[in-house]
Formats: sequence, C-alpha cells, structure tokens
Amino acid sequence: MINLFTRFFTHAEPVLAEANARDADAFATLHAASFQRGWSDGEFETLLRDRNVSAHRATSGGSLAGFIISRLVEGEAEILSVAVAKSRQGRGLARRLLSLHLSTLAGRGALAVFLEVDEANIPALRLYQRAGFIEVGRRAGYYRDHAGRPSTALVLRRDLA
Ligand SMILES: CC(C)(COP(=O)(O)OP(=O)(O)OC[C@H]1O[C@@H](n2cnc3c(N)ncnc32)[C@H](O)[C@@H]1OP(=O)(O)O)[C@@H](O)C(=O)NCCC(=O)NCCS
Repeated sequence: MINLFTRFFTHAEPVLAEANARDADAFATLHAASFQRGWSDGEFETLLRDRNVSAHRATSGGSLAGFIISRLVEGEAEILSVAVAKSRQGRGLARRLLSLHLSTLAGRGALAVFLEVDEANIPALRLYQRAGFIEVGRRAGYYRDHAGRPSTALVLRRDLA
C-alpha cells in the first residue's frame, strides 16, 4: 500500500507555483545536486525575499522537482538559475517552468530576459533555443568543467515585448 502511494506521487505530474522564502532549503539542496558550485540556503533565502526576484517551484508529493529563479530590474530580467531533479529530467518540466516564469516576468514589466549558459550544456541550450532565446554574446573560459578545463558561456536573450 505504501509502495503504491509512493509510486503514485513519484509519477504524478508536478504542480507549479510561485515560490517564497520557505522554499530556500529545498532550492539550495536541489541546486547543490545540480551544479558544481552550490548556493547556501541563506543565499536562496536572501534572493527569495528580494522584491526584484521572481521564482517558481515544481513540486510532486511534497518534494521539490524543479525550480527557476530570476531578477528583474528596470524592464530587464536575468534568469539566475534553473534546475530539475535528475529523476524528473527529460519530461518537459523545465519547459513548463520556463514558460510560466516568462509569462510572469512579462506581466511584471520585463521587456527582455537574459541568461548565461555553458555552451556544452546541451539540455539547457535546447530548452532556451526552443523558448526563443538567441545568442547575443560569448565569454570564453567563463566556466570550468569537472576536469578543470575552461568552457565558454553563451549570453542568451529573449525579447518579451
Ligand atoms: C537543463 C535542465 C533544467 C532541463 O530540465 P528538463 O526538465 O530535463 O528539460 P525538458 O524535459 O523540459 O527538456 C528541455 C529540452 O532539453 C532536452 N533534453 C533534456 N534532457 C536532455 C538530455 N539528457 N540530453 C539532451 N537533451 C536533453 C529536451 O529534449 C528538450 O529539448 P527539445 O524540446 O528540443 O526536445 C536540467 O537538465 C537540469 O536541471 N540540468 C542541471 C542544471 C542546469 O544545467 N541548469 C541550466 C543552467 S543554465
């Protein structure tokens, strides 16, 4: 019975909602599992309390399946981070989060959205390209891969107006 219950929630479609400071711990845990350099829950709490910051979470059965967070200043938004739990990847969850997030940013007056992405991060590049982001700049050697080799950051932009 417990197994069936767990399986139902593991496979249920995640629910998307606006995030708040109470999500800081869960965001920090998923961020640390997703990136080489994690952010502390204190850093997330500060961000999530910032009036210029917008964030959405996707939850399933009470646990965090994904999040997206950005900062909006004077009509320009920057996506600071996006992550989906490994067990949930490849099923369109980041696409849903990004789409909801872009609509919210547009509603809050964003005219353009920027972000930086490692040119070797194929899933992220596909996500952003399909959402209409275009390359507007490159920063060679901005990131390091697991072996410490330099890799290029692409600066992407999507107009919302
Ligand atoms: C990038 C990330 C958020 C995508 O999440 P996701 O829920 O798996 O993405 P989606 O299922 O919505 O798919 C988005 C696109 O990525 C593609 N994709 C997903 N997983 C992939 C993989 N392992 N290999 C290649 N492409 C992949 C999908 O096919 C889709 O492209 P399409 O629409 O052209 O088919 C997720 O891989 C992640 O959390 N990565 C670690 C953190 C990170 O790199 N964040 C981005 C930093 S800029």
